[in-house]
Amino acid sequence: MDILKIDNLQTNLSKMSVKKITVIGSGTMGNGIAHVCAQFGYEVSLADISQPALDKAIQTITKNLDRQVQKNAITEEVKSQTLQNIKTFTDINDCAPSSDLVIEAASEDFNIKQKIFKQLDEICAPHCILASNTSSISITKIAAITKRADKVIGMHFMNPVPVMKLIEVIRGYATSRETTDLIFEVSKTLQKIPVEVNDYPGFVANRILMPMINEAIYTLFESVSGVREIDTVMKLGMAHPMGPLQLADFIGLDVCLAILKVLHDGFGNPKYAPCPLLVNMVTAGYLGVKSGEGFYRYEAGSKELVVSGMFK
Ligand code: CAA
Repeated sequence: MDILKIDNLQTNLSKMSVKKITVIGSGTMGNGIAHVCAQFGYEVSLADISQPALDKAIQTITKNLDRQVQKNAITEEVKSQTLQNIKTFTDINDCAPSSDLVIEAASEDFNIKQKIFKQLDEICAPHCILASNTSSISITKIAAITKRADKVIGMHFMNPVPVMKLIEVIRGYATSRETTDLIFEVSKTLQKIPVEVNDYPGFVANRILMPMINEAIYTLFESVSGVREIDTVMKLGMAHPMGPLQLADFIGLDVCLAILKVLHDGFGNPKYAPCPLLVNMVTAGYLGVKSGEGFYRYEAGSKELVVSGMFK
């Protein structure tokens, strides 16, 4: 990959009307989004109600920037400029009012998003675009909370954000063409590829990905084959970078279950019914990487992929 030149990035940015971005939520997706926005020259405010979560996010961003420096993907200068471009806040009142774009990446819970978007609509400048990184909640429903539905849009980044090229850009029922075009421009300045989709359950990415993951879990549930075998078939047979069970652990089994429920409720079609094994695993707290065990067991510092004792 070419070494990125800060000068070139700033030239790109000067053409844009978006300069200040607030990212809400400093978890896996939020810190990745803040990382790329800052790397490509935006002034980023990373907001979270928890100061320890913000501190952890800055540590993660620093570690991921170090990895990029080691791979010669960026220079030390870009790394330090990126970190300088990020400021952290525990109150969105202190950063969102001066932003041109807010990207919400808080928990996948409509009640939480409802509170955030109501507050954002009240405190943000009239020109400010309100985007959500939601993986499955309706953009139309989020937009309806605000008085600026034309300026509410989905910007669905993929994990790990610094690596994955796609941004699924979701147009709610009332999202304007102008808003969509501006988000396309911003996405391109982040060196991502935006793809426009309409607001229906699961959008495109998860409408296709989650049934595949669910089917892999059913294949295990019905003892057709084992964890490692199912993943190997999909990795070697279809050239997927991770098998579907490992990917489910990586995304979070609770997130997979929540998205399948959105598809099931939204379409009323039994083909989206979550596998009972997935439901049991989530109920028992086996959530994948984040809880230390799902289909595989994850030990700090170990890169070896060990199948969970439950499936041996
Ligand atoms: N930050 C920066 N760089 C990172 C990184 C991070 N967090 N994680 C990995 N990388 C870089 C590595 O430095 C490496 O760079 P080079 O190619 O320059 O060497 C590259 O990514 C590959 O990483 P690794 O060599 O460590 O490991 P890998 O080859 O096993 O790849 C992976 C890891 C990129 C995660 C790969 O396994 C993969 O693509 N997996 C599938 C990911 C996927 O499907 N994501 C979408 C999930 S769905 C979603 O996010 C949305 C939803 O709504 C559920």
